[in-house]
Amino acid sequence: MSSIRPKTLLVVALAAVSAVAVSACGTQKIQVASGTPMHGGAVLFQERCAGCHSLATAGSNGSASNISKALRNNGPNFNVRKESYERVLYAIQNGGFSGAIMPQNIVTGAEAKLVAAFLAKYAGADVRTPASPSQMMGGAAAAKPVPAPKQDLAALGASVFTSNGCGGCHQLSAAGANGQIGPSLNKIGSDPAAMIRQSIINPNAVITAGYAKGIMPPTYGASISPKDLDALIAYLQKVAR
Ligand code: HEC
Ligand code: HEC
Repeated sequence: MSSIRPKTLLVVALAAVSAVAVSACGTQKIQVASGTPMHGGAVLFQERCAGCHSLATAGSNGSASNISKALRNNGPNFNVRKESYERVLYAIQNGGFSGAIMPQNIVTGAEAKLVAAFLAKYAGADVRTPASPSQMMGGAAAAKPVPAPKQDLAALGASVFTSNGCGGCHQLSAAGANGQIGPSLNKIGSDPAAMIRQSIINPNAVITAGYAKGIMPPTYGASISPKDLDALIAYLQKVAR
């Protein structure tokens, strides 16, 4: 008779398997608010692209997943690489840029456009802040969740939002704002802080689909102090979810 019971062995084996699953080809939670058009793109990305590409927003960690199997199919890490809509559509149709590894037309038509719009918006979110040492080493730490904003900072942020007239163009229920010129900010708080920051201080760098360039003033980076800007972002992350 064996001294190790079969049940114990099974538990140990399962623990080993799940540890590998988490560290190797983990698919984690999608970080885009459900119900938004971008969420559809995130879901498609997680289903079709995550096996080979990493992107925290889509809960995907495929870029590094195949090292142990020595396969050449791990593609670029989209946490640290920006992509344009046109580049993504081209890569989807052509099978990457080289045409050698990535299969062609994994998504087509409207689905391809949705994934391209999603990647154009979210890829490279971590390049907008100076690269940290861990990002340079492959971006593994880039999937860390954004820490919860502090209470007092968010209170200051509410007054920054109001005093800068953001509500004249944007809807934000928490602030009683109902502007219709720009996109609603009611769900913006689930975006990474670096992305919200970029949208505020450099609004023309990435234009929200369906809106025109050059309408949101490009001057907030100069007129809002760094502390007020941090507060504004903390506020949006707290109330706009
Ligand atoms: C089987 C693995 C695999 C899958 C699945 C895959 N890719 Fe790729 N992809 C790669 C590899 C490898 C490269 C880099 C080599 C190249 O460009 O040919 C790449 C390159 C790219 C590039 C060019 C990146 C750059 O800046 O160089 C884009 C954009 C891209 N993929 C998007 C996607 C999208 C969107 C999907 C899902 C619809 C997807 N990929 C699915 C393996 C894959
Ligand atoms: C004169 C109108 C106007 C004002 C004032 C304005 N915005 Fe905008 N904003 C826009 C428009 C139009 C867009 C969409 C085009 C773009 O992405 O730049 C936008 C985009 C954004 C986005 C990106 C939204 C998304 O869905 O990705 C954020 C975040 C944002 N604004 C925050 C602010 C904040 C915070 C303020 C105040 C400090 C502000 N805006 C003031 C018009 C405005």
